[in-house]
Amino acid sequence: MKSIKAATYYIHFKQNGYRELNTLIQNKNYSSIFILVDENTLECCYPKFIPLLETDKRIEIIEIESGEINKNLDTCSGVWNALTELNADRNSLLITLGGGVITDLGGFVAATYKRGIDFVNIPTTLLSMVDASVGGKTGVDLGVLKNQIGLFVNPKTVIIDEGFLATLEERESRSGVAEIIKYGLTYDTRLIDDLKTFEKSTINKIIHRSIEIKNEIVLKDPKEQGLRKVLNFGHTLGHAIESYFLGNNNKDNLTHGEAIAIGMVCESYLSYKVLKLPIEKLSIVKNMISTMYEKVTIEKDDYAAIFELLKHDKKNNNGEVNFVLLNDFEEFKLDCKISTKLLTVVSQLPNSYQFNI
Ligand code: GLY
Repeated sequence: MKSIKAATYYIHFKQNGYRELNTLIQNKNYSSIFILVDENTLECCYPKFIPLLETDKRIEIIEIESGEINKNLDTCSGVWNALTELNADRNSLLITLGGGVITDLGGFVAATYKRGIDFVNIPTTLLSMVDASVGGKTGVDLGVLKNQIGLFVNPKTVIIDEGFLATLEERESRSGVAEIIKYGLTYDTRLIDDLKTFEKSTINKIIHRSIEIKNEIVLKDPKEQGLRKVLNFGHTLGHAIESYFLGNNNKDNLTHGEAIAIGMVCESYLSYKVLKLPIEKLSIVKNMISTMYEKVTIEKDDYAAIFELLKHDKKNNNGEVNFVLLNDFEEFKLDCKISTKLLTVVSQLPNSYQFNI
């Protein structure tokens, strides 16, 4: 697969990526290499990765606990302390080996440790490959509020090795598919067709195209002043739903993709109500998502708290919630103001919708 050029770094694939990483380590003459993992990637990914690293530099593993619940400043403190105790200096390299929590948190820790050390992302989940590891967003949650604290900072390189996907549980893989559907609906519907034959032979093509789309958008608008907001399609309500489930002991946590899938159904519904998204296209979104994800029930009593969480969305301006909506597939409109009154439209989704995805 052809490498993709981002603003200050490349996204490389497979062997080429490892070759570039070894060259980078040699050229930069890092003092030590730290590999950030969680218990899952330590067991399943680290043994595959470590033989590919050709260096005589000191290598140390730093392990954090997996899960969105641990993507917070306490975990960052743990990693900053570990780096300090292990005498990491400014010329150290941090390699993040994991999913979105590891790449987001690891990038943030690296960017802030001693005012910044280099980091390389090696995403091991589909979600992180097609979204989190690319584009320079790093950060952590604050309480249940998603990615409330963070920086835009680019890695030295990103290595995509789809071989790691074999280590994932089915539910985790499906989480990443939601981001691919997002690229398909907003930018390139061919991805939606490709997803129908989502298998080993097409996965590389799907991942490559998804990253190409994200990179093209980020190159035009790195700090989300405009166009990049399109990457938030489904995320406005999706993040609020994810946060609500995260903070509610009576609910099982949703994966990011499951929450975003619900968000895409709701925001397609709003697109049909307030823009020109044809009802047939709304049905396509709903049917696609219902066949791909398990049913999640959101009770009427949950709506008020979910809408309250929308107040914290990072796209808000002057207290107004801004949505990305669709006029059609591949035709989006940024900064759509949706009044609270209109939002109740979502809570009046017909029974058959019932977030029955
Ligand atoms: N995950 C959305 C973005 O990177 O902008």
